[in-house]
Amino acid sequence: MPTNIASVDDKLKIPEHIAIIMDGNGRWAQAQGKGRVAGHKAGVNSVRAVVKGARKAGVKALTLFAFSSENWQRPEQEVSVLMDLFMYVLTKEVKRLHKNNICFKVIGDLSRFSDKLQKSIRKSEQLTADNTELVLSVAANYGGRWDITNAAKQLATQVQDNEISLDDITENSLNEHTCLAKLPPLDLLIRTGGDYRISNFLLWQAAYAEFYFTEVLWPDFDEKAFEKAIEVFDQRERRFGKTGEQVK
Ligand code: IPE
Ligand code: IPE
Ligand code: MG
Repeated sequence: MPTNIASVDDKLKIPEHIAIIMDGNGRWAQAQGKGRVAGHKAGVNSVRAVVKGARKAGVKALTLFAFSSENWQRPEQEVSVLMDLFMYVLTKEVKRLHKNNICFKVIGDLSRFSDKLQKSIRKSEQLTADNTELVLSVAANYGGRWDITNAAKQLATQVQDNEISLDDITENSLNEHTCLAKLPPLDLLIRTGGDYRISNFLLWQAAYAEFYFTEVLWPDFDEKAFEKAIEVFDQRERRFGKTGEQVK
């Protein structure tokens, strides 16, 4: 069912697919004299804000980096809180997402998560599978290198089983086996928290994405901050290898 929320600014060029590296939770908490975990909890509000902002703007796909394949190296207690928080969000928030016609997906190597968490993820994905307003993908135990390796493995298996030939391995066929292949190409990659790196996020998908870095720490990133990123995107000239004159 289409929802009637006013669009951000009718004249703006809206990215179809936005991804966010939600960074800075720990520093936000420390700045307030709290433990890092408080920052992760506060970060959930920012997730709600950007989902709302994305719907308002008419974005088709929003992909959020919640836990990287490298984040297992953090102190055990922090990892365990992040898992609990993930479980909590799945049980509490997914119903609301469903009500808002949002399709929820998790990307990443889920095999390392507890059975309970995996089951809850599958259930949430099934519940929201047919929703059409926005595709919200949460990257958990995700790594860009893993994504590409995984796609290569799937193609290699098909060659081994004589289902395809070596020549069938193309950029397009490899792309089809990466996460997010069914979504529009990534237009805008946002990173909060003041660092200027990709931290093994969407390496393949970011080939022609616009990058937007902000000092704002994730728990402080609100709807206004999200709208600002869209406004900056609107000002960018995307040339895809062509000259400025060609794309004018
Ligand atoms: C991002 O915030 C959340 C996760 C990586 C899970 P951080 O926890 O990395 O916060 P900082 O970068 O230490 O401030
Ligand atoms: C990237 O943040 C991962 C997520 C936001 C989930 P990190 O805090 O793990 O990145 P680095 O370690 O600073 O590169
Ligand atoms: Mg960080």
